[in-house]
Amino acid sequence: MSKQLFSVSFQFLYALLLASLAIQSLAFPSYESLGGLSERQLKEIIPTLDARVPPSPPGPLRFNGTKLVDDSDHPFRAPGPGDVRGPCPGLNTLANHGYLPRNGVATPAQMIQAAQDGFNMDNQPAHIAAYAAHLMNGNLVTDLLSIGGKTRNTGSDPRGQPAPIAGISEHGTFEGDASLTRGDDFFGDNHSFNQTLFDQFVEYSNRFGGGFYNYSVAAELRFQRIQQSIATNPEFDLRGFRHFTAFGETVFAVNMFTDGRKTGAEAGQLDLKSARSFFRDGRYPRGFHRANKPTAGEGVEIVLAAHPVAPGHNVGVNNYVEDRSRGSMTDFCTFYKFFINTQMKEMYPNPTGVLRRNLNLNLDFFYQSIPFLYDSFSPPDCPQIFPYGRN
Ligand code: HEM
Ligand SMILES: *[C@@H]1O[C@H](CO)[C@@H](O)[C@H](O)[C@H]1NC(C)=O
Ligand SMILES: *[C@@H]1O[C@H](CO)[C@@H](O)[C@H](O)[C@H]1NC(C)=O
Ligand SMILES: *[C@@H]1O[C@H](CO)[C@@H](O)[C@H](O)[C@H]1NC(C)=O
Ligand SMILES: *[C@@H]1O[C@H](CO)[C@@H](O)[C@H](O)[C@H]1NC(C)=O
Repeated sequence: MSKQLFSVSFQFLYALLLASLAIQSLAFPSYESLGGLSERQLKEIIPTLDARVPPSPPGPLRFNGTKLVDDSDHPFRAPGPGDVRGPCPGLNTLANHGYLPRNGVATPAQMIQAAQDGFNMDNQPAHIAAYAAHLMNGNLVTDLLSIGGKTRNTGSDPRGQPAPIAGISEHGTFEGDASLTRGDDFFGDNHSFNQTLFDQFVEYSNRFGGGFYNYSVAAELRFQRIQQSIATNPEFDLRGFRHFTAFGETVFAVNMFTDGRKTGAEAGQLDLKSARSFFRDGRYPRGFHRANKPTAGEGVEIVLAAHPVAPGHNVGVNNYVEDRSRGSMTDFCTFYKFFINTQMKEMYPNPTGVLRRNLNLNLDFFYQSIPFLYDSFSPPDCPQIFPYGRN
């Protein structure tokens, strides 16, 4: 081969390589949120996606008692290289045991079913969590949602590490500040287990729970984490949905990480070895039995009553300013209005076609899951809002 020909064919191959890289980087991940994209981007991306009609959400469990869930059909396997895990120890556990797809990408319906099967999470709270997460962080066209971050390898990282896609780790949507075992996003990592914070979890369980994590510990630790964030995080945010989840999650660990065979004085007392297994490893303690009845937020009123911190945010370190405009734990309707009229409208100002259809279906599923929470949350007090008309 002449030198010239070699050079030409090399150039040709090189051009091919570049073109194929360009195509790869154009492929939009099927589980990444479309929120905030321009109309032009949407027009390019949506036709490349495998559009799905979201199925109706699963109903409650037929058998809703305790049972072995760490069974032979659901062995623990640590996540592999391409698998995503995130800030939720419950979902991480479900993925590590195969109740959710092990890659960490699932539909909201799969999340509800898995949370019920694997933890006996109550049907309606599971709906709220799954559809809120999906609307904020999921891909509404493909009906897929990632339970974590760091999923896409764009080649942009010199070490060849996957570049981050937030999924439910996206800060300021569902993921938020003052988590019990995860640091605030401001400090650089919003979703990984943090041993220092877990040591504090242990210390509080020893101090207020006789070596167990219970509602009394949850109340004190919730308050402590809020105080820590107020004192150190200039961007600390406990408004709206985060006010609701920050309190709710503290009792999730009592209600759903405690073995369902425990009754009487043992009920609601989570031992620290099990706590570490869930929070750090996303793993059932050996032979774990799920809760003995459908559950989720029971006891949250105890946690809130102990230290009733109002919703708000820091305007600079140590300057916590109350702000009720986005709702709170006890004012879900104000959250709902903010969520629809501001948050959703900003993410999707003018959806059309399959995106608009699926948005409307998911908004319906979300609204229908809420009324049980508060008596006031139902028509006529908090009527459904239709920002994109009706399907
Ligand atoms: C049904 C779908 C679910 C969704 C979409 C979901 C989502 C999330 C998200 C986004 C967070 C991070 C919030 C933050 O602290 O910044 C979180 C935290 C948490 N979730 Fe879930 N979750 C679900 C089900 C569950 C279940 C079934 C359990 C328990 C069995 C659980 C237990 C927890 C706990 C204890 C935390 C707090 C972690 C901490 O503060 O360190 N979740 N969840
Ligand atoms: C659990 O199942 C039983 C029997 O089907 C039913 O009567 C009960 O209402 C269920 N409990 C909850 C909280 O859904
Ligand atoms: C939170 O963590 C995810 C995953 O690492 C990352 O993509 C995201 O940028 C982080 N922060 C924010 C503000 O979302
Ligand atoms: C864990 O949290 C502590 C206390 O907030 C913080 O000082 C530390 O930097 C965090 N560690 C990691 C690895 O993020
Ligand atoms: C938590 O444990 C402590 C120590 O045993 C106990 O005094 C307290 O009553 C418990 N709280 C709950 C709500 O079980």
